[in-house]
Amino acid sequence: METTPRVGILMGSASDYDIMLEAARTLREFGIPFEMTVSSAHRSPARTSRYAREALSRGLEVLIVGAGAAAHLAGVVASETTLPVVAVPIDSSSLKGLDALLATVQMPAGVPVATMAIGKPGARNAGVLAAQILARGDAALGDKLRRFKAELENEIESRARAVEDRLRNDLG
Ligand code: RP5
Repeated sequence: METTPRVGILMGSASDYDIMLEAARTLREFGIPFEMTVSSAHRSPARTSRYAREALSRGLEVLIVGAGAAAHLAGVVASETTLPVVAVPIDSSSLKGLDALLATVQMPAGVPVATMAIGKPGARNAGVLAAQILARGDAALGDKLRRFKAELENEIESRARAVEDRLRNDLG
């Protein structure tokens, strides 16, 4: 069984855990081995730099990075690696994630960070996007993603039926 992590999940604080758990759950759903740890762009810059510099040679293929407030973690990581960096702005401050979104998304030309939505939907999408990146060289993962998309579509079909039934019931 493959156990070498293919995705690294990094978060700026242990307080980001509940949000970033969504990314971990999603990767597990797709059977993608991952690791998850904490490092801060501001409080532990040396640890962050080391993690980013060593990621590729340790076999990681995609990095998912979550941070809130003055969220510079994903950008700092992206500046130190050629791996794709997928970022999750976290709503952990009084500005409810808008600060993190702007700090994360407004990268200078040449240092891209793929920025997801704020909070749990963003963490979920970070997991899915990581799977989509890895699936380019992994046919079995591609099949899982096709099934995932089909399930999303089926879910909408059944919700549409439920709304139509409800309307018939309510309006006769
Ligand atoms: C950010 O500040 C972290 O990513 C977290 O979202 C926020 C608050 O961190 P703590 O003060 O809870 O450690 O750097």
